[in-house]
Amino acid sequence: MAEEKLYLYPVWLRAWHGINAIGIVVLIVTGLNMQFSNPDYSFINFELAVNLHNICGIIVTIGYLVFIIGNIATPNKKYYRMKWKGLRKRLFKQFRFYTQGMFKGEKPPFPVSEKRKFNPLQKFSYVVVMYLFVPIAIVTGIALLFPELIIEEVYTVSGIFLTAILHASMGFLISIFLIVHLYVASIGKNPLNNFKSIITGWHHA
Ligand code: HEM
Repeated sequence: MAEEKLYLYPVWLRAWHGINAIGIVVLIVTGLNMQFSNPDYSFINFELAVNLHNICGIIVTIGYLVFIIGNIATPNKKYYRMKWKGLRKRLFKQFRFYTQGMFKGEKPPFPVSEKRKFNPLQKFSYVVVMYLFVPIAIVTGIALLFPELIIEEVYTVSGIFLTAILHASMGFLISIFLIVHLYVASIGKNPLNNFKSIITGWHHA
């Protein structure tokens, strides 16, 4: 039987994804470096870490606008539309496959097709990360870049402190997402299949 090939990742999406992936990895490394800064020892010089963090933050923000515009203007938006009815059942079915089914050699319950690029767990996590975690990280990041914009006090607690906590929490959640994302992306026909797809654009079923 001939191998099925699907073109799922258009050029603009691959360009965004590549820039976003590198940008976010640098943001995580430099963010951790600042969070755990120590005057006696630093993995990256503190000032360099701040500058790199600011530059990558701006690059990821511009990239995010490309992602949003691309997802408004092209058919890629259809893969992000959530159907709430029966969602819990579908998420559980996919979770069961990842934790049991795939180790028993079962077929995936939601195979990739032109109509369905993501399985329910992938779709749910992409929507939460791209429409909640990343925008909150961007807005709080911009606020920290221009602290004069931030409310001085919220119930006697410093507004900058609250913004920084929210920003770092999003960084933490995006880091956890990234670890799970890399593991899940390695599940497929072979461990490199999906990584090749996000570079070439073609999914090999
Ligand atoms: C080293 C870093 C990364 C690698 C190697 C990587 C790898 C991949 C791969 C292989 C895919 C295609 C298969 C799939 O959908 O699972 C993908 C898609 C995707 N990744 Fe990543 N990723 C990285 C970082 C990130 C980051 C930091 C984010 C977001 C904060 C992200 C968000 C997404 C999204 C939303 C998609 C689906 C895009 C679409 O088809 O509309 N990725 N990634």
